[in-house]
Amino acid sequence: MSVLVTGGAGYIGSHVVRLLQQRGTDVVVVDDLSNGRTERVGDAPVVEVDLGTDAATPALARAFAEHDVDAVIHFAARKQVGESVAQPARYWSQNVGGMANLLQAMETAGVGKLVFSSSAATYGAPSTPVVREDGPAEPINPYGQTKLVGEWMTRAAGVAWGLRAANLRYFNVAGAGWDDLGDSAVMNLIPIVFSALDAGQAPAVFGDDYPTPDGTCIRDYVHVLDLAQAHLAALDHLATDDRPYDTFNVGTGTGASVLEVLAEVRAVTGVDVDPVVNARRAGDPPQLVADVSRITGTLGWSATKSLRDIVTSAWEAWRR
Ligand code: WQD
Repeated sequence: MSVLVTGGAGYIGSHVVRLLQQRGTDVVVVDDLSNGRTERVGDAPVVEVDLGTDAATPALARAFAEHDVDAVIHFAARKQVGESVAQPARYWSQNVGGMANLLQAMETAGVGKLVFSSSAATYGAPSTPVVREDGPAEPINPYGQTKLVGEWMTRAAGVAWGLRAANLRYFNVAGAGWDDLGDSAVMNLIPIVFSALDAGQAPAVFGDDYPTPDGTCIRDYVHVLDLAQAHLAALDHLATDDRPYDTFNVGTGTGASVLEVLAEVRAVTGVDVDPVVNARRAGDPPQLVADVSRITGTLGWSATKSLRDIVTSAWEAWRR
């Protein structure tokens, strides 16, 4: 038996691959290597294919059969909000089309368990201080829309042919579980700030006039290793018969503002981080924090690492 991990050579996927390997599970990785790197997955076999293309179906069928695959963890997707606004068709084709190819191949091969990377972007700009899975999901960009559709697709496959799925809605993932698996893309706040520090530039704060205590946006930062552990908990949960929910927030339940993150960066790096305040970034909700009671109560998972752990591990990996 093995677990097939799509996007397993990427930042989050490679953390899950390593945890699976550590607990003795055989892993096969499917990745188009557009952002992924094979050196991240150890000795796991890598099938190089883009799930959004026609080549995906035969490649998956072969991988399922050759490796006796019992479950899939599906990360492979495009994940940049701004890019999704500029190129919506590409996001629908890649994220939804890739998911359709995957589900079709799973049904054909009789692979019946799936953990799906969903996103807090499915909530859009919520009006509540914390968000619950049973509250409104009104994504405000094509990226979040494709993730919400992905959740609908897993549910429909459950009805149609008995797929057992868990949709994990990630909040703001950062940090590194191992120095060689850090987030090498400069797309999110913490790596953006590190990159600015390296360049001797002032990091930018996107707006300080939000209705929050210090005026900057509040997010729920979750350590990538905690998030990776949530995938193992979800996978184990799919093996049980009692599965009351299929969608879970994965966050800490505690928010931090942009200025609080910068204060942590200052404390960890010793560099005097003196930001400039820019205009608000379009589409940023003032606050996005997870209610974690469902995942804690149902999967028995909760985050163990602090914002300090996140920034410290991210910085160590970044330095490397
Ligand atoms: C965090 C905060 C910015 C850069 C995105 C996706 C979301 C999820 C996580 C996966 C915001 C502020 C940022 C900068 C800043 N991904 N900021 N200066 O937008 O909360 O979430 O990643 O599913 O779906 O939307 O993350 O890291 O871009 O921003 O002030 O230079 O930092 O305004 O408040 P975001 P982020």
